[in-house]
Amino acid sequence: MIPESLKKELQARVASAITSREAAVDVMKELQRHYGWLTDEAVVEAAELLGLSPLQVEELATFYEMIYRRPVGEKVVHVCDSISCWAMGGETLLAHVAGRLGIKPGGSTADGMFTLLPCACLGMCGDGPAMMIGEALYGRVTPEMVVEILKANPGDACAPPTTKEE
Ligand code: FES
Repeated sequence: MIPESLKKELQARVASAITSREAAVDVMKELQRHYGWLTDEAVVEAAELLGLSPLQVEELATFYEMIYRRPVGEKVVHVCDSISCWAMGGETLLAHVAGRLGIKPGGSTADGMFTLLPCACLGMCGDGPAMMIGEALYGRVTPEMVVEILKANPGDACAPPTTKEE
């Protein structure tokens, strides 16, 4: 259950939107921030806030890949697997990040710090291969940069990996 203050803030956001659907991503992201992922409870709360059915929220949630309908690590590492990044070595980058974290794409580190997810275009097609951790975007990522990027983020990603398969 979300705190009353967050509920009021989200109600105000929905009220200021032209249609409730316009506020849907904002509401889902805030609930995701609160719970860590968009739980079933959050889907019901989002539906109540937006005046939609839980099924309608579910449909929206599954459309946006930055909305997580299952538990994820504290930091989600997205590696772009769209065409421009693929042409610039995105597949190799994904394999490298997976190896560095000791998990497969789709998996999470045993300490719950990182989840690795391939994703569609991050809007940095001219600077591929691209990846994102949390809200931070990185372009022209090399294997050497991966170490630095992971070091710059919380967690012990550069320690010998431990694995938790999904
Ligand atoms: S194709 Fe990777 S950022 Fe656009």
